[in-house]
Amino acid sequence: MTAPVIAIDGPSGSGKGTIARRVAEALGFHLLDSGALYRLTAISAKNNDIELTDAAAVASIARNLAVRFDSKEDGSERIWLGDEDVTREVRMESTGAGASAVAAIPEVREALLERQRAFARPPGLVADGRDMGTHVFPSALVKIFLTASAEERARRRHKQLIDKGMDVTLAALSRDIEDRDRRDSERSVAPLKPAKDARILDSSGQSIEAVTQTVLDWVRDL
Ligand code: C5P
Repeated sequence: MTAPVIAIDGPSGSGKGTIARRVAEALGFHLLDSGALYRLTAISAKNNDIELTDAAAVASIARNLAVRFDSKEDGSERIWLGDEDVTREVRMESTGAGASAVAAIPEVREALLERQRAFARPPGLVADGRDMGTHVFPSALVKIFLTASAEERARRRHKQLIDKGMDVTLAALSRDIEDRDRRDSERSVAPLKPAKDARILDSSGQSIEAVTQTVLDWVRDL
């Protein structure tokens, strides 16, 4: 491994993305939002009229993703697939469901492995996802499994989507998240579960600042 990696895994809505971003900013490390790669694979497959059950074709899409990340004037992240701005589509819950379907295909996970590992560059990387500590970066310096109660995760994700101007009800979102977590936990390849050497961090009822600080304290205690 070329650089220290902090792996943050956990279920949907646990706050991984937000915490990973804050920790990366505080440490001056690179950031890998691995879920975005699965989401982009699902979008690209859809755009190319490929059935999500066609493992070889979806894996080929994953291998050849023309993805680019940059920022808007206000500093928020923008995601490009080829020359199409997919920032909004990437975050839609329907895209999350598609991502969870393609993520269960072993060839797709294999196709995305090296791409993810290439993010580990000096001075270091904060990587968030479902299998950062178990598969992609098994020798990560710090492994964290971030959780929160199911209600709180649904509420947080709901607020996030509403803030982005998306039309979604809490009840429908709770069902979608539950389905996705079940599929992610029960799949045979790289299922969602804490690495043996992961620290479990329950963020229920805790502020973003408090959770970020706990992670930074763990990193600095090393
Ligand atoms: O984290 P996010 O909600 O963006 O992830 C979308 C989906 O991508 C997850 O539900 C999961 O199925 C898949 N995923 C994965 N492994 C990762 C990151 C995401 O299987 N490391």
